[in-house]
Amino acid sequence: MLAIIGGSGLYSLGEEFELDQQASRETPWGDTSADILIGKWHEVRLAFLPRHGPGHKIPPHRINYRANLWALHQLGVRDIIAVNAVGGISDDMPPLTLAVPDQIIDYSSGREHTFFEGGESGLNHVDFSWPYSATLRGIITETGLELGQPLVACGTYGATNGPRLETAAEIARLKSDGCDMVGMTGMPEAVLARELEIEYACLALVVNWAAGVEDRVISMPEILANMEQGIEKIKRLLLVAARRVPA
Ligand code: HPA
Repeated sequence: MLAIIGGSGLYSLGEEFELDQQASRETPWGDTSADILIGKWHEVRLAFLPRHGPGHKIPPHRINYRANLWALHQLGVRDIIAVNAVGGISDDMPPLTLAVPDQIIDYSSGREHTFFEGGESGLNHVDFSWPYSATLRGIITETGLELGQPLVACGTYGATNGPRLETAAEIARLKSDGCDMVGMTGMPEAVLARELEIEYACLALVVNWAAGVEDRVISMPEILANMEQGIEKIKRLLLVAARRVPA
């Protein structure tokens, strides 16, 4: 089954989503961000989980990524498309760009970032050379092409800790490291999916220029307006992409 993890701005799949199961939040790793909703979205059976919880109450560093991924896996989820709002760093990442990153650099810290804690939970060093699923990335980018929805088909996601935005110097450093976009929720979600052998791709929505790219401060009202506009594009894309993910 496919799951969609909704990021900032994507808190539900709308009225067309026909709910038939609501999974409880408890896992051995603590509680998920919200109940996981399972149902049909235009004939496709899938699971939906809003990462920040109902009403966007959980900040990026407090999300229980392990519980979220564990619960999805227990429900039989084998593919995840994760939606993430990001700041644009590269020239080809202005606000409202959709992007499907193919690499990630983790600058986050202090997060529970593995299921392999040693002892009873075991020890493993998973391969993470290519952190995102090539199959899912292909489905998303081909769907974009077909729908005439431009998107940037690769790029490096820099995962910062938040909840504050970055300094201009931090973004200059990320840029010289090769980051094209910056967000706060890309990790450890991606690696936890890999540890559970779930196919995982990120569909990123640029909602602002990252700090210092423009000579002005970042405006929250602008971010929210871009989010609202961009999420509609994302829903249209996901609706078609979801049908193409093998059941
Ligand atoms: N930085 C980090 N995370 C973000 C940003 C940003 O500029 N915009 C949206 N999420």
